[in-house]
Amino acid sequence: MEVIIQPDAAAAVKLTARIMGDALRKNPEMVFGLATGATMEAVYAELARMCREEGLDFSNAKSFNLDEYIGLAPEDKNSYRYYMEQHLFNHINIKKANTHLPNGMATDIPGEGARYEAAIAAAGGIDLQLLGIGQDGHIGFNEPLSSLGSRTRDKSLTPVTYKQNCIYFDPPESMPRRAFTMGVGTILDARRIVMLVTGEHKADIIAKAVEGPVTSMISASAIQFHRNVVVIVDEAAASKLEGKDYYRWSFENEPCWNEYR
Ligand code: PGA
Repeated sequence: MEVIIQPDAAAAVKLTARIMGDALRKNPEMVFGLATGATMEAVYAELARMCREEGLDFSNAKSFNLDEYIGLAPEDKNSYRYYMEQHLFNHINIKKANTHLPNGMATDIPGEGARYEAAIAAAGGIDLQLLGIGQDGHIGFNEPLSSLGSRTRDKSLTPVTYKQNCIYFDPPESMPRRAFTMGVGTILDARRIVMLVTGEHKADIIAKAVEGPVTSMISASAIQFHRNVVVIVDEAAASKLEGKDYYRWSFENEPCWNEYR
């Protein structure tokens, strides 16, 4: 794992988008794993700008999102399908048919997880998975105690996640308490993981996930098992990391980051 500390959130976002853009230029048929949430909005705005101004071409790319609320239709403004259309898909040249999220309206709940897993496999697996982290340490909606080997399935949301996300709902109590999410095992199957974490409110949890023991109580800690992970943080999110000096030294000196410094 590598941890890259950027001076502020804007720089962390730019670096994340640049890594994604470079991967797409190298492989126009990239299969992206995508995430939602406040942190990612600026990443998608930057990718949209790169598409518009720099000709970044998504026409042969595919995407699979991490999760979707159960009970929300695609056109519901709180669904993650709606979020993705608003923040990214409507602004880049990806083919809508190549964009995938779990179907929040699926009635066969176990069947939907299996269908999603099969769709990811049929696309050849995920090349680059973008991740955020929730305040309870979740990746996707893999809440505490999610099996580190879990696959796409339905999951009950914790009170911490409810508090974090209900602010987007009107009234807040209308937020669904269950969601479909890729499993931790599904996420670990991605060939590369890029995690973006910004803000002081994430400093504790990212320190636990990156430097603490691997535990299903913090599903993000499972990325320690992955062989190709970069965690990009701003100074505020990095404030509780014990190994900060080493991470900085490493980023400054590793030849693979020459073009990104
Ligand atoms: P946020 O969500 O970007 O809105 O903080 C991240 C997450 O819950 O994974």
